[in-house]
Amino acid sequence: MTKRFFFPAGVALLLAACSTVQSPQDRLTVNDQKIDAIIAQMTLEEKVEMLHSKTNMSSAGVERLGIADMHYADGPFGIREEGQPNGFMSAGWTLDSATYFPTGSALAATWSKEMAYLYGTGMGTEARLRGKDVILGPAVNIQRLPVGGRTYEYLSEDPILSAALALEYTKGVQDKGTAVCIKHFAVNNQETNRGSVDAQLDERTLREIYLKPFERAVIEGGAMSVMPAYNKVNGDYCSENEHLLNEILRGEWGFKGFTVSDWGGTHSTMGAMLHGLNVQMTGSNYLGQPVIDSIATGALTEALVDEKVRQILRVRFAIEAVPEDVANTKMTSQPECQDIAKKVAERSIVLLKNEGMLPIAKEVKKIAVIGQNAVLKTQSGGMGAGVKALYEVTPLEGIRKRAGADVEVTYAPGYKNFPGRRWGPAPAEPNPLEAAAIDEPADPALLTEAVALAKDADLVIFFGGTNKSIETEGSDRQNIDLPTGQNEVVAALHEANPKLVTVLISGGPTDLRQLEPVSPAIVQGWWNGTEGGTALAEVLFGDIAPSGKLPFTFPARLEDSPAYAMGNFPDPNGAGGDLFSLMFRPDVLKMSPEERQKFIDSLPKPVSKYTERFYVGYRWFDTKDVKPMYAFGHGLSYVEFEYDDLKAVVGKDAVKISFKLENEGSMPADEVVQLYVHRIDSKVEWPAKELKAFQHVSLAAGETKVVNLEIPLKDLRYWNETTNAWDLEHGKLQLLLGSASDDIRETAEVTI
Ligand code: BGC
Repeated sequence: MTKRFFFPAGVALLLAACSTVQSPQDRLTVNDQKIDAIIAQMTLEEKVEMLHSKTNMSSAGVERLGIADMHYADGPFGIREEGQPNGFMSAGWTLDSATYFPTGSALAATWSKEMAYLYGTGMGTEARLRGKDVILGPAVNIQRLPVGGRTYEYLSEDPILSAALALEYTKGVQDKGTAVCIKHFAVNNQETNRGSVDAQLDERTLREIYLKPFERAVIEGGAMSVMPAYNKVNGDYCSENEHLLNEILRGEWGFKGFTVSDWGGTHSTMGAMLHGLNVQMTGSNYLGQPVIDSIATGALTEALVDEKVRQILRVRFAIEAVPEDVANTKMTSQPECQDIAKKVAERSIVLLKNEGMLPIAKEVKKIAVIGQNAVLKTQSGGMGAGVKALYEVTPLEGIRKRAGADVEVTYAPGYKNFPGRRWGPAPAEPNPLEAAAIDEPADPALLTEAVALAKDADLVIFFGGTNKSIETEGSDRQNIDLPTGQNEVVAALHEANPKLVTVLISGGPTDLRQLEPVSPAIVQGWWNGTEGGTALAEVLFGDIAPSGKLPFTFPARLEDSPAYAMGNFPDPNGAGGDLFSLMFRPDVLKMSPEERQKFIDSLPKPVSKYTERFYVGYRWFDTKDVKPMYAFGHGLSYVEFEYDDLKAVVGKDAVKISFKLENEGSMPADEVVQLYVHRIDSKVEWPAKELKAFQHVSLAAGETKVVNLEIPLKDLRYWNETTNAWDLEHGKLQLLLGSASDDIRETAEVTI
């Protein structure tokens, strides 16, 4: 194991930050002189050692000079269990069980900056206990496709919401002395052909939609490292994309830290060296010996290597290495972090529909819980984002505990679970509770058993949705249909007992056209972490009012969503042959660099065209007047909120809004107030409306608060493709204030 050393640099950094007003990125440069003195003592070999992986989850320092290795941890929903040095296989440790935090779309459903910050502090705290310097997260790409394998990992379809949460998560992590590695930069919106697809989009869409979360986290949050994505953007791999890494990230945003390629996402020595990559993860075939060779031939300079090492060392100096005898001496999961996971889960649950079923009435004495999603643990699966949780309260456990001795809770699996692709050998006997195909119809025996329980209960709670084999890194869903006959099951349950609540346990949207008419109440319950079941029970029983709001549109039909409607996804040319998966084929691994290049050149070149442009999510649905199943920002409460007295003034730098918000109910409740902008008589093309500000507000029963919101004028700009710069269009704006994108309560007009 590498020896670790302490750097007093964290303190120096803090003092420097207090004495002068510096941008968060500039604070990384306070040790540059010291760093340059160290670089002067390093051999070329030592420098190049720092540019690639040392183990699967570390890159080298220089022990001789007291520079500790850099230790990475997945992220983003909990510190991943310790793997073997050469891969992801478990190291078999006992103290590496972490807190499993709610997944990305669940965090985003809180619409709470405070929760995102706390979440970051929780991740940062546990990373330190494990001796990790860099968290491979947050994952902040825009949710472009409802079927996206990583839609659940990402935050939202909206750049303003995603950016605000990415910023707070980043601050939270870094305030605990750990660096973020914000990912996946950029336009990483599909898993299909993820290692080779070229995302082709215009500059305005890139700037206004896809880069926003990264931009705020880097500029305002001081994100110390960035992970270039697997895919290409406009022709170049992200790990060697001059426009993304050198021109925008370093040039325009002033990024001073280092970039780490996604695992297996480095593609060449010259491309990576010249166009902005610092560290190849994993392997050294590009940023190892070939760098030394290229310097010998004069193709590269040692000064370029020095610059890359300087950028890495800035982070190494800002983050104190955890001493070896301190790291991993305590269980990773900590009570205060479990508490954060619970708070986030409580605020994330979205009440989609409620025809008088919720909260569960006092008279209910027998509840039938139906559906395997009530008992399946969701911590693992999904590949990189899986967590070995210290514990996970399932929905059924949460309900049973909260119901207490007075209420009988029965359970039946209802439908078979689809386990997805199996890693490792197939079980000797088929599991009767597992389906062989995702679209397998309902199992008659399970259905009969479930209906019998439903008939005999005062209330039925049906748990549907997907699982982390269906929504997972590495593949996209074929459709958003509910799997394994769930529609059939819920219809039969409703016929047996119309007192029915449906809870959806999934990370992304599902097709609810059949389920909705037979579900008097619907709750989106997410993959909600260590305390997910506890939080869900609190909401179902009315201990707290639900306050989550959808961070993405639930389309009625998948084909209604923009990339599908425009024929952009799936790739109409059907180009396949994902470079990423092919590169790991044993025969390819054996090839010489020349053979490999020839092989790569012979592969199909998959493309994803973004001709829907900035009409992503609700921007599309609203502009094209397509009614979704549930709109972006939708989420009901157990109380009503009254919006009143909207006032708006245009200041020098911002539009300032104030209004009164009243909780008309008899219980405390939170509301997420949302402010959208519609442009009047504009010459520039705009979506029908765009979110520009929001706030999560807590109100006691009957309380009224004056809420203030601000839209910085800079957030009203558009990317002018003629001048290649941000531009503010002066003119009239209609401000739309409400409880959801389709529930606008107050409007006002201002001129900017
Ligand atoms: C994923 C990253 C992850 C990395 C390390 C990659 O396959 O795309 O998100 O951080 O693996 O596990």
